[in-house]
Amino acid sequence: MPSNFPSRVHELSAEEQSIYRQLDPSRIPQHIAIIMDGNGRWAGKRALKRFLGHQQGAESVQFVVETASRINLPWLTLYAFSLENNLRRPKSEVSFLMKLLKNYLIGNVKRMNDNNVRMAYIGRTYDLPQEVQDTMQWAMEATAKNTGTTLTLALNYGARSEIVDAVRRILTDLTTEAHTRGCSVEDLLGAGALDSLDESTLSRALYTGHMPDPDLIVRTSGEQRISNFLLWQIAYSEIYITDRLWPDFRGLHLLEAIADYQRRDRRFGGLNENSDEKIDTLQPVSELETEIATELAPPRELSRR
Ligand code: FPP
Repeated sequence: MPSNFPSRVHELSAEEQSIYRQLDPSRIPQHIAIIMDGNGRWAGKRALKRFLGHQQGAESVQFVVETASRINLPWLTLYAFSLENNLRRPKSEVSFLMKLLKNYLIGNVKRMNDNNVRMAYIGRTYDLPQEVQDTMQWAMEATAKNTGTTLTLALNYGARSEIVDAVRRILTDLTTEAHTRGCSVEDLLGAGALDSLDESTLSRALYTGHMPDPDLIVRTSGEQRISNFLLWQIAYSEIYITDRLWPDFRGLHLLEAIADYQRRDRRFGGLNENSDEKIDTLQPVSELETEIATELAPPRELSRR
């Protein structure tokens, strides 16, 4: 586990350290996922072409990854290219993004290794250009032995199709098992396969089956939506939205997001630890009627108006 490695907090910049000192190191999230948005707007504000916004965005990726590795964040997942980006953006922009990704990987594998970062991918990556896939594979193998932060790039990714792929995988596995056992799928379903299919079966069949769900999801550039990212996995994630555009986002801002996260009260649908009421000291509702009437009645001055 990354947490067994010597701390690299001293490598943070002075500004980052001043925020890190406010954090509780025992409550650093296990997994942060980021929707990197605002590259186009960043470029537009400077009367530059959108491409330059993406290029600057790639710089932010490396800054943020290195800060994440210095604080021993185990999992960082970045939404780099969605299925919808692939289908709906002009061909020239898509091919620029592919070139940028390839150059980014070639140019940064050494830095990934220097920072003990392991690279991984999620999404329908088999539909990306072959030369991009080859570079991705190379970068993944070249960093496979690293034990620090796992940087997962979501590429040609869509959460709904991830769920579809998971269901297909479950059905394929079931068909294979029936074949191996020499029985029908129906036989297996009747013999308990249907009853034992639960949330953990689906979680394990997702691209992220080996990862913990994100504790924190960050979105840059102020948009308040999830855009088909990790829909299943973020059921209980804390959401942090910043107006900062992705090309202006740095490690410092990741630490600010973690500070904000640490101020939240995560309840996962329950109550917080201090809210356990002792049943034997609870008063019957009939004895509380006056109290309820006073609490719920509008203040007199208001009700007279
Ligand atoms: C949104 O900006 C961002 C993307 C389409 C993809 C993110 C890509 C990068 C950060 C650069 C390359 C990444 C890697 C890993 C090398 P937008 O164009 O939607 O911005 P806008 O909403 O302001 O137009």
